[in-house]
Amino acid sequence: MNAARRWASQLEAWALPEDLLASAEEDPYSWPVELWERRRELAEREPPPPTFEVIRRYLPGRVLDVGAGTGRSCLVFAREGNRVVAVEKNPQMAQALARAADGLDVEVVVGSWPDVADRVGEVDVAASSHVVYDVRDLAPFLAAMHRKAQRAVVLELTERHPWSDLAPYYMALHGLERPDGPDVDDLVAVVRENLGVDPEVRRWTRPSVMWYRDWDELLAYMGRRLVLPRRRWDELRRLLAEEVIEEDGRLRTRKPEQAMATVWWETDG
Ligand SMILES: C[S@@+](CC[C@H](N)C(=O)[O-])C[C@H]1O[C@@H](n2cnc3c(N)ncnc32)[C@H](O)[C@@H]1O
Repeated sequence: MNAARRWASQLEAWALPEDLLASAEEDPYSWPVELWERRRELAEREPPPPTFEVIRRYLPGRVLDVGAGTGRSCLVFAREGNRVVAVEKNPQMAQALARAADGLDVEVVVGSWPDVADRVGEVDVAASSHVVYDVRDLAPFLAAMHRKAQRAVVLELTERHPWSDLAPYYMALHGLERPDGPDVDDLVAVVRENLGVDPEVRRWTRPSVMWYRDWDELLAYMGRRLVLPRRRWDELRRLLAEEVIEEDGRLRTRKPEQAMATVWWETDG
């Protein structure tokens, strides 16, 4: 099986069973905008990820951010005087990003990459953070970024599929086994196979800094991801009790450092 096919089939294995999905009170795959805005605000106070240093090597200039979310990554470069094009398929995320980008040189394109690629001009760097595990057809997604980038493509991702941490809860709550691929090495194989380049990979870790206002917010987030009806949230609370700590009136999970990677290559655009 080729690398792109292997990537797709590993992602397909994550699909939730039909009967479980049918019971979902909310879309388990959707992103709560408020938590992503919080994530962006937290990121502004953390040491910058190594990915930013890699992106800056190819600036000043124009940056494309694919799957920009609420702008955690691209707003940093816009504030430094670069021109940013942010592509985001979720209209609520895009709206929150446009609000945060007010007064900066940021063009927000609402739509799915690579479908909207013809609405985007050439850039110096094409970047995408924490998106590739959402992308089944990875080869055309990466190839379209490669074509737009005059200097480099830069990706940031967790070393393993971001839902891997949920596996024990799926087992405890639904008796459902979860896969554990794909991972960074699978991504690198897709790049090599389809673009004919050998990307650089830098592995690093980041502490988990996310916090929740109260148990209701935490259970709403985890309950949605775990397709758990509200009537079973007490069960989830008992399962999480050991892992959740209270600090300064806020809750956070005792998650160990998260393994991350930055993957990049130069283009000859
Ligand atoms: C986990 S968030 C990451 C947001 C931001 N890049 C960051 O690192 O903070 C993933 C975002 O990518 C968006 N997304 C996923 N696939 C996409 C695609 N093919 N085209 C555009 N946006 C996409 C989702 O809507 C979501 O807002």
